Amino acid sequence: IQDEELPLPSYLRVYKNTFLSTYMVTYMPEYEKLKCRDDDVYVMSYPKCGTTWMQAIVWLVMNDADVAFQGGSKALDELFPMLEWPFNSKDMAEFGKLKKLPECPDWEARPSPRLFKTHLNFQLLPTEIVERTKTPKIVYVSRNPKDTAVSFYHFIKGFDSSLFGVHNDFANSTFPEFYKYYMQGKCDYGEYWAHQVDFWERRHWKNILFVKYEDMKKDLKGEVRRVANFLGKNLSEEKIDKIVEATTFSSMKRNNTVNYTGMKAGRTQDATPFMRKGVAGDWKNYFTAEMSDNMDAVTQQKFADSGLQHEYE
Ligand code: A3P
Repeated sequence: IQDEELPLPSYLRVYKNTFLSTYMVTYMPEYEKLKCRDDDVYVMSYPKCGTTWMQAIVWLVMNDADVAFQGGSKALDELFPMLEWPFNSKDMAEFGKLKKLPECPDWEARPSPRLFKTHLNFQLLPTEIVERTKTPKIVYVSRNPKDTAVSFYHFIKGFDSSLFGVHNDFANSTFPEFYKYYMQGKCDYGEYWAHQVDFWERRHWKNILFVKYEDMKKDLKGEVRRVANFLGKNLSEEKIDKIVEATTFSSMKRNNTVNYTGMKAGRTQDATPFMRKGVAGDWKNYFTAEMSDNMDAVTQQKFADSGLQHEYE
């Protein structure tokens, strides 16, 4: 399967050895200089590992399980913006009308505690985090490489690139086609495996909590409690239960403040919904035995020394 070297999809650029979407590259120098605060909270991940799920949990933990969140007027991506992408789903609706790219948002103006999401790999994080001169809290979410690939495939396929004046190389791809690019790390944010290992190896840092999607599926309450402890919030049993109830897949799928219905502007008509399946093991519906064996071998090789392991169902 791992045959010829594939070309870089046309909407990606190389930035410091990492593949990022064209627009992000414009803003990266600004983000690297970000002045961090020790009370910032970041949810970090490779795309499709359960970022939004963790953002919802973190937001509720930080806001005393305020379930107003469920019917709130602001979408999660306004409350909890993405560091390297200056547009939330509301802005995206207007994107096509813009004559030039907007300025970098003024993150300095945001009151503490600021909440950010990012998919950047460790090396591309704000310098203060990499050099540890500031120690904001970081919750890293990891997911097994097979389900991540399937989720990524659906997400990228439904991306309405015409809005951004770029071409979506994966618009008509089958999963086996996307799989080849994923194996070579020729997708947004580069390779999956290196991204995981870079954070896994730093999981003992006091300001990093490493969480696995499959553990959240198995014991959501336990993981919510871990997150609350890590963020220094002593929440009652009742509040923890409220957070669990609000962050199950079915609750989040129904909740328009977190399910990215506002992102329609950036999605094609027949795109799968953002809250697609929300399970561990859907990869079995997409992988041939050969693809599965091949990914197992690569994972074995790339994770072996680190000891990082995932469950696959
Ligand atoms: P699937 O496409 O496999 O369904 P991200 O937020 O990092 O982009 O990840 C999106 C993936 O997380 C999607 O996976 C989505 O369905 C899943 N997800 C989001 N909220 C979830 C929840 N509450 N429970 C389980 N999975 C969830």
